[in-house]
Amino acid sequence: MLNNAMSVEKAQIYAELGEQLAALIEGEPDLVANTANMAALIYHGLPELNWAGFYFTDGEKELVLGPFQGKPACVRIPWGQGVCGTATARREPIVVPDVHEFSGHIACDPDSRSELVVPLLKGDRVLGVLDLDSPVHDRFDDADRIGCERLVTILLEHHRDWREGSGPGDARNPATASG
Ligand code: SME
Repeated sequence: MLNNAMSVEKAQIYAELGEQLAALIEGEPDLVANTANMAALIYHGLPELNWAGFYFTDGEKELVLGPFQGKPACVRIPWGQGVCGTATARREPIVVPDVHEFSGHIACDPDSRSELVVPLLKGDRVLGVLDLDSPVHDRFDDADRIGCERLVTILLEHHRDWREGSGPGDARNPATASG
């Protein structure tokens, strides 16, 4: 019952974040600007986070740090490494209740205890990931995963021309808004 009530409450929070995100990016084609605002929206809109942001696919099988809120983070992550690289390689979201129990977790901030990573997918290609960290054990559940997937969908539908293999520098250019 409590869990259900919490899920309803979370669904409401994510619905509101989705509306705010759509309004923030409307008419703006710049990918860096939009992902920066999205990171800030999530970081300040969700409780108990210590990091929220993006890694973008850069070249072959590597992620590079994108816009984020929180402490400085590791810049490059090979596909298959850490939670971000694993979610990228698997092309599916990963919820980690306890990062100390995730083999290969990359500890950018020692305060982080749990993590949610949602890949940015265009077909079977990975453009990058959205990464949320929390200092609270078991902070993220299915409602968070579904909510963040929805936010990512809003971003990707706006940037339909976004192509994989572009780092932040390149990503700035092909970011043509569709509407
Ligand atoms: N913990 C991540 C690295 C990125 S930081 O959390 C910002 C990982 O294991 O991939």
